[in-house]
Amino acid sequence: MSEMTHVPVMAREVMEILPLRPGATAVDGTLGLAGHSLMMADRISPGGLLVGLDWDSSMLAEARQRLSGVADVDIKLFQCDYRELRDKLTSACSEAGRAPAADAVLLDLGLNNAQIEDGSRGISFKNEGDLDMRMDRSSGEPASALLNRISPLELEKALWNFGDERWAKRIAQVVVERRRTEPLRTTADLVDCVMAAIPSAKRDKRIHPATRTFQAIRILVNGELDDLEGAIFDAGLCLAVGGVMVTLSYHSGEDRAAKVAIKKLSGSGNFESIYKKPLRPQADEIAVNGKARSAVMRAVRRIKEENQS
Ligand SMILES: C[S@@+](CC[C@H](N)C(=O)[O-])C[C@H]1O[C@@H](n2cnc3c(N)ncnc32)[C@H](O)[C@@H]1O
Repeated sequence: MSEMTHVPVMAREVMEILPLRPGATAVDGTLGLAGHSLMMADRISPGGLLVGLDWDSSMLAEARQRLSGVADVDIKLFQCDYRELRDKLTSACSEAGRAPAADAVLLDLGLNNAQIEDGSRGISFKNEGDLDMRMDRSSGEPASALLNRISPLELEKALWNFGDERWAKRIAQVVVERRRTEPLRTTADLVDCVMAAIPSAKRDKRIHPATRTFQAIRILVNGELDDLEGAIFDAGLCLAVGGVMVTLSYHSGEDRAAKVAIKKLSGSGNFESIYKKPLRPQADEIAVNGKARSAVMRAVRRIKEENQS
């Protein structure tokens, strides 16, 4: 096992609400380092089926290793987008001779600590490295290529919509001016652009000035919010009657998608939203894991079959 670390967020609350029992079918749509998955596997043993997905091959490899010691659970892992959750669940269940429905689905959105800390991925402004930011490095366009070609207006919109960056227009101008003479290549190049764009007297003292820009560009590069609401809605449809789906979101765009998807599921009459207000981490968890601070947890339960009135 490698040194990669990530503390599973709101694990106590997640395990309490998911109906995990021996023999159950559980889906972890965002495996990461398998922190939640290990706990889920423990609860569905013996005889359970755990289906795990992650689009990042390095996370999947690590998760596979961490789950290798689990006994008496059928574990099927896939490198893919959780937008393919229904297909993967169906194929895993058909192989295992089970009905294609889940008792528990977890979507712990966003990215994990190990991905942020890996300087070679260019996700964090704290580590100098190539400006890549892709979660699946076998496809798509690295952040540097994207930043060196998109229009100033597209860039401004992304910074505003995905980072709530009020200096979006100015940062976009600086990036475009700079790339005319020197294309952006590294995380430091992007940090320099942000620093040149935001006057020091106007900088938010609580967070690094590049925080919002890096978040926004990462979301853009990976299409993280593209039809997220549809993906969460579809994942909910995979639940068996009595099954529960939990979402954990870390910023407003993700949480909006989860909220609307759960509202639509409940509106069909076949599901119920479990909490009136979303849950937030307790103070004792935040004290030991500051990264949990922004988490918002929602949950929905299937109460009827599709055509049942
Ligand atoms: C917050 S981490 C999950 C951490 C995990 N629950 C744990 O305890 O170790 C989110 C994971 O979801 C993956 N991910 C994010 N968006 C994804 C998507 N659209 N499809 C598949 N995996 C995704 C990321 O690569 C990352 O490993």
